[in-house]
Amino acid sequence: MTATAPPAQSPPAGEALGRPLRRADGREKTTGTARYSGDHAPAGLTHAALLGAHIAAGRIRALDTTGALAAEGVRAVFTHENLPRIAAQPPLLPSLAGGPAPGQTFFPLQDPEIHYAGQPVAMVVADTWERALHATRLIRVDYEEAPSATVLDQIRHTAFEPEKIFGGLLPGRATRGDLAAGLERAEVTVDLTFTYAANHQNPLETCTTTASWEGGRLFLYDSAQGPAATQHTLAVLLGLPHADIRVDSHLVGGSFGCKAMTWAHPALAALAARETGSPVRLALTREQMFTSCGHREEQEQRVTLGALRDGRLVALRHHKLSPTSHFDDWAEPSLEAASQLYACENYEGRYLLARAHTMTPTFMRCPGEATGLFALESAMDELAQRTGLDPLELRRRNHAERDPVTGKPWSSKGLQECYARGAALIGWERRAAPPAREGDWLIGLGMATAAYPIVPPVNPQRAKARVFADGSALVQAGVAEFGTGATTAMAQVAADALGLPVDACRFEGGSTDLPNVSAAVGSMGASYTGAAVHAAATALRAQLIAQAIADPESPLHGARAADVTLAGGRMVLRDRPETGESYAQLLRRHMQPDAEATGSWGPADLTASGSSHAMLTFGAQFAEVAVDADLGVIRVRRLVGAFAPGRVLNARMAANQLMGGMLWGLGQALLERTFMDPALGRWNNTSLGDYLVPVNADVPEVTVELVEVHDEAVNPLGVKGVGEIGQAGTAAALANAVHHATGRRLTRLPMSLEDLL
Ligand code: MOS
Repeated sequence: MTATAPPAQSPPAGEALGRPLRRADGREKTTGTARYSGDHAPAGLTHAALLGAHIAAGRIRALDTTGALAAEGVRAVFTHENLPRIAAQPPLLPSLAGGPAPGQTFFPLQDPEIHYAGQPVAMVVADTWERALHATRLIRVDYEEAPSATVLDQIRHTAFEPEKIFGGLLPGRATRGDLAAGLERAEVTVDLTFTYAANHQNPLETCTTTASWEGGRLFLYDSAQGPAATQHTLAVLLGLPHADIRVDSHLVGGSFGCKAMTWAHPALAALAARETGSPVRLALTREQMFTSCGHREEQEQRVTLGALRDGRLVALRHHKLSPTSHFDDWAEPSLEAASQLYACENYEGRYLLARAHTMTPTFMRCPGEATGLFALESAMDELAQRTGLDPLELRRRNHAERDPVTGKPWSSKGLQECYARGAALIGWERRAAPPAREGDWLIGLGMATAAYPIVPPVNPQRAKARVFADGSALVQAGVAEFGTGATTAMAQVAADALGLPVDACRFEGGSTDLPNVSAAVGSMGASYTGAAVHAAATALRAQLIAQAIADPESPLHGARAADVTLAGGRMVLRDRPETGESYAQLLRRHMQPDAEATGSWGPADLTASGSSHAMLTFGAQFAEVAVDADLGVIRVRRLVGAFAPGRVLNARMAANQLMGGMLWGLGQALLERTFMDPALGRWNNTSLGDYLVPVNADVPEVTVELVEVHDEAVNPLGVKGVGEIGQAGTAAALANAVHHATGRRLTRLPMSLEDLL
């Protein structure tokens, strides 16, 4: 006999929301039976493999594909000389639901120009992937190489201020107040420059697309965060009606941003399948993942803080310089939440870009804020030092009661409580004493504020709900499950809205045949899809209650809708719960197999509530480190994160995501770095053996604390999102702890022991 209480897998009907239920897809994933997008194999499947350019700039003088074409099993070889031209290239715009979302505005295999190393120059189709890959090595390419520049040090003199960045969605410069006057008034000034290595996302499942054509219609299995984004992009690239493209992205093996936008490989797979007349699966190699789906760009950020002697900020200048491709003005939006974090009247944020021979950078874990808050929160720690204030007290003195950018009130905040709870959990009062030393180890404590933007939807988010005569329910929306737990959380949302036990509800997503929702990016998945599912399930419940009321044979006949509620899985009279019936009883009596409703939530629903508020998710990060006094080795002893993410749909999965984010922050701080060889113009460490990420042995004691805030403005469920904020501020908390331990201000990510010697 075991004394362990069984997990709460079957909460009472209507009480599933927030419960720490286990993942619906957990068993199949951990037992190896899950079928990921790359596991689907239509009959007659063939395999494509890409050959990437090994120069970073220049052009192809000549290609010889004879050897590849003669190799065993090879069906076709495509190069710019024979691949059909794309119909049109959509503009770069990260509108991941309303339209195409190409990751860059350059499409390969259309002309002989080379813009970056790894750019596809040939695609082989063969009967097996191994044979296709082998044949790519038999292709002879004669290049005319041109000088390349791939790192900031080579191109900083060419920097320019773009009018817009981020697909035109953000201005290159933002100001408020009078920065010069603020700096003039300042009694204490901090001016620090931070540098960041380039990073790659490295999900476990590499990007894979399987394409087949039937009667002029294109079917894709695509490993993507948003199947609709793939559909829209391919419609433009191939000149096809949307209705003739179906994209399925059921289970996706991780992404971290690199599968948010639609890159070239889905269209290449579709073209190869059309030209050869057979289904084609195009799987990128691990090495190709470093040159095919974007990266977090190398960058430099300079933060200048001006403050009064009591610590109150009077000036904040934040500039970012980063390389982008030769065809797109992309910068990860690092200055956004950082510009809203503190009450400071005088501000200037500027993005500067310089063109490099790389592909266009893209989203990566906690895009923008992971880097922007490292700079701001390290500078704030330095300001605390210079003003002699406790770092937490400095933050409190600059707490923004309203959004300093728009002057609007926050939809909800909870930051002060995050500070208080995090400080109590890490034992922040210890920081007042001189830093401890244990043998060779110098012990330090650090903290940082965390924040992540909430982006309102640009178009309606839709879902469909059905209840069947057997009493079960199915809710559907097009969102992909890439490990966030959407499948489980959406069943919980539906169960509560329908008043059913969660075991009776199933969520299905991952196809463009289902109602359209945005790609799950930027921490918006739970709020967007959750609001749509809630709307659909609520509409269905109202419809069935109305049907019962109108039914002379129903115990609820003639009741007022307002007097009917759901209890114990049945529609009942609010003040006489013994009077009522279940959905199943109602449907069976009418020999009606099911009932169905759609629901949507979008910009119009937000106008009333959301536009009057500023929306940001807040949190606080605390870290304890030990630094070897002689060797500079940094060991993380403890991480504490307190977050106020609004309504939590599933406590277990929310904590998992937040903890995962904190550990990615640890990786950003201490490990993650892609090395560019500027002489060759190529990434050097393109394998999971050489690109370091945290593993279990790196993981310290991690505490995730959820601070409750009630938010009525963000969406009907009050969900603010947990996807990214776990990483926001983590690296700064760690660097600040290192500073506390050693007195050394580290301004380079990842931090390494040579920085401490
Ligand atoms: Mo997320 S890194 O915005 O896909």
